[in-house]
Amino acid sequence: MDNTGKKKFYITTPIYYPSDNLHIGHAYCSVMADTMARYKRIQGYDVMFLTGTDEHGQKIEEKAKAAGITPKQYVDHVVAGIKELWKLMDISYDKFIRTTDDYHEKAVQKIFKQLYDQGDIYKGAYEGWYCTPCESFWTETQLVDGKCPDCGREVKRTSEEAYFFRLSKYQDRLIQLFEEHPEFLEPASRRNEMLNNFIKPGLEDLCVSRTSFTWGVPVTFDPKHIVYVWVDALSNYITALGYGSEDDSLYQKYWPADIHLVGKEIVRFHTIIWPAMLMALNLPLPKKVLGHGWLILEGGKMSKSKGNVVDPVVLCERYGVDAIRYFLLRDIPFGSDGTFSNEALITRINSDLANDLGNLVSRTVAMIHKYFGGTIPAERTAGEVDDDLIALATATKAKVEAYADEMQFSSALAELWALISRTNKYIDETAPWVLAKDEANRARLAAVMYNLCEAIRIISILVSPFLPHTAPKIQQQLGAPADVLTWEQSGEWGLLPEGFSVQKGEIIFPRIDIAKELAELEAQQKAAREAKEQARQPEGIAQISIDDFAKVELRVAEVKDCEPVKRAKKLLKLTLDDGSGTPRTVASGIAQWYRPEDLIGHKVVLVANLKPAVLCGVESQGMILAADCAKEDVKVLFVDNMPAGAKIR
Ligand code: ME8
Ligand code: MG
Repeated sequence: MDNTGKKKFYITTPIYYPSDNLHIGHAYCSVMADTMARYKRIQGYDVMFLTGTDEHGQKIEEKAKAAGITPKQYVDHVVAGIKELWKLMDISYDKFIRTTDDYHEKAVQKIFKQLYDQGDIYKGAYEGWYCTPCESFWTETQLVDGKCPDCGREVKRTSEEAYFFRLSKYQDRLIQLFEEHPEFLEPASRRNEMLNNFIKPGLEDLCVSRTSFTWGVPVTFDPKHIVYVWVDALSNYITALGYGSEDDSLYQKYWPADIHLVGKEIVRFHTIIWPAMLMALNLPLPKKVLGHGWLILEGGKMSKSKGNVVDPVVLCERYGVDAIRYFLLRDIPFGSDGTFSNEALITRINSDLANDLGNLVSRTVAMIHKYFGGTIPAERTAGEVDDDLIALATATKAKVEAYADEMQFSSALAELWALISRTNKYIDETAPWVLAKDEANRARLAAVMYNLCEAIRIISILVSPFLPHTAPKIQQQLGAPADVLTWEQSGEWGLLPEGFSVQKGEIIFPRIDIAKELAELEAQQKAAREAKEQARQPEGIAQISIDDFAKVELRVAEVKDCEPVKRAKKLLKLTLDDGSGTPRTVASGIAQWYRPEDLIGHKVVLVANLKPAVLCGVESQGMILAADCAKEDVKVLFVDNMPAGAKIR
């Protein structure tokens, strides 16, 4: 707490490798953390939610090299896509750290120097085996069948001068940490694995610098060495808060972290190496590391090399972010692996979202319109069946909290859906359509409608950390004023004021025709994968030979005439003088950005030997060049100072 009296809550995701586009498995991790952050915020905590990217290492250096660009250009491109994904998925991070950020690199250098000066880092020579994809060193005994014990791929024999972190020195303190603080790592199964399989058998000192590649943070006092992975990546959790910089006020405010959320394969790094580093720096340890399971697809972990990745963008665009969030949070019990399939996703959407939740809201709103013109009368009579609904509705908050506090969102949602089912059952029990037949039942019918609205109000609050788009939609249809929608009020009954009016709205989750949808979705996913494959390389990356380029004939051409194309809003029809003496017609999709008079008289770049094509009735003999300057901004290349017909090469 600080002087605002607000309790602090600091949660992190791992920093992702920007070596490729992220898939639905990464989204799972971020959605979990985001839900926790929202849950804490709505409860009044002062939340710091950190995510980011882990940008150094040999793998990225090699990928950039293959693409013919610098590592920084490479990561900039991928990181932009990652940020877009988090925006699309409504990941409400407070800070995004990139390990290529200047303040981070400086802080890492300081940390490294301090550890060296105090003897926790020393220079030695590394003899061992290196797995490039995992960026891990292994000793002979750690290899499994001569291959990387993590991923099973080939390893390379390596020997080089390197700096080492004295991990062995912290063995006893780590044992003590695990024994005295069982809450430090969950689930418990992982705790035993760390303690018995890794810590107790003995910890080896850890190689923390490399000389065989350069894409890392240089060691200030020995610059042919670069710091990578451990000291670089793990320290992001404190450097992001300004540790090691001039202004460490955020560090002072938020550290230690309440939760490091990480996938099970990096639990070891976060519960052995990271605490040892913090012990060496004499800093407080994070309160908890939570290791989540993997999202599995068709029998294996989703991974790019297996070609079985699922793109969250396609899914979000098709079903909405909340449907995807719901599936991820509901279908995978915390700590276990979960299986992703399109069918499981659509089944969940139909049963839980369209049927249970969506129907409850739309039926209720429709009935209030039908019976009362949208406003429930003030006079109401209670009935016996109401008590049961009210008891469950007011008890659900505590049940949801008990699970959500432990990040057991699947169970929390199960509790919430039990209330949704109970409320739907209440409609069947009270049979409003029967009550409505007799004017004498008016007060009872009003009570039933009011109770439904109260239950929906509570549900809308409790669902909000999980489904941030859906909650406001429900609340808007309910016509509920903001002052009955606080988290605390989800445990109270009877807060909707007299005379509130429900609003008809869109169907929140339309029902999906599974068979039809699966066919379409699979076709779209396939097309998206193929498009990604082609677009994977950042612009300018795909290398072509000079001969390839020579095949393209580019010429300066003057726009002599230009008119809109009637049948196609996006197209302009241009008549060009390309120097040949014969006018040439080209259709161009730039009508959104240019009027005909903006173009006439200007000179443009023409791709002269493009195969003609008919676009909306216009035969286009070539194309003109334009640049995507911003997401929604396109500019034609003008070359007014050059003569029409000049060849560009
Ligand atoms: O490990 N299901 O980065 P990363 C669930 N840079 N989670 C998955 C998953 C799947 N199929 N695939 C990946 C790194 N993840 C390091 C972390 S932290 C100081 C450095 C999760 O991009 C994975 O478990 O390989 C991990 O928690 C996170 O995505 C980042 O993985
Ligand atoms: Mg990984």
